[in-house]
Amino acid sequence: MPLNHIAFIMDGNGRWATARSLPRTMGYAAGLDALKRVIAQCAKRDVKVVSVYAFSTENNGRPDNEKRAIFDTVKNFNNSYDGEMKILYMGEIDGLPEDVADSVRYVEDKTADNKGLILNIALNYGGKDDIIHACKLAWDHNDFTVEGFESGLASCGLPALDAVVRTGGEKRLSNFMLYECAYSELFFIDKLWPDMNEDDVDAIIDEFEGRTRKFGK
Ligand code: FPP
Repeated sequence: MPLNHIAFIMDGNGRWATARSLPRTMGYAAGLDALKRVIAQCAKRDVKVVSVYAFSTENNGRPDNEKRAIFDTVKNFNNSYDGEMKILYMGEIDGLPEDVADSVRYVEDKTADNKGLILNIALNYGGKDDIIHACKLAWDHNDFTVEGFESGLASCGLPALDAVVRTGGEKRLSNFMLYECAYSELFFIDKLWPDMNEDDVDAIIDEFEGRTRKFGK
C-alpha cells in the first residue's frame, strides 16, 4: 500500500539547540531546515501529503520569546515561500498574532492552485478541539455518518493518514490528529528533529512498506 499521507511530530528542537549551547529558540530555524530536507525526500518517494505539528494550543503556555521564535520561523517561511507545494493550515489561525495569521492567509492563497506535494501545517491546533468542532458541525447538519463527521475535521479532503512519526524519543501523540490516526502506522524515533535527514525518511518509508496493514480485518 503506498504511503500517501505522513505526519511528523517535530520534537527535540529545543534540546538540539541546548546541546550546542545555543538558546532554545535557535532550534526552530534548524528545525525548519530539517523540515525542508524531509519534505524533499518525501516528494522523491512520491508521498502526496506531509502534515506537521508546528504549534499546539497547549504550546500557548510556553515563554513569550519561545512562542515568538516559532511564529517568526513560520511567518518568514510563509512570506518567502515561492515553490510548487500547496500549503494548508489547520488550527485556530484567528487566535494567532495578526502578522502570523496574515502570513498564513497569504501563503494559503498564493499556493492554492499549486500541484505539488501538499504541506499541511498544524498551528495553534489541538486534536480534541478539532473533534469537538466536527461534532458541532455534525449536530448542525444532523449528519452523524463517518463521512459527514469527517467533513467537519480540519483535515477534510486530505487522504487517510497512513503514518505518524514522532522524533525526540517520547512515545506519545500529544493531541495531534487524534481522529485521523485511528489506523496510522506509528514510528517513534530517538533522533532530535533538526538531525533528521533523507536517509531517515527512506528508512521510515521502507519500514512502512514492509508492514502489514490489516485495518482490523
Ligand atoms: C517541539 O519541539 C516543536 C515545536 C513546538 C515547534 C516546531 C516548529 C518548527 C520546527 C518550525 C517549523 C516551520 C514550519 C514552517 C512548519 P521542542 O522545541 O519543544 O523540543 P524539546 O522537546 O527539545 O523542548
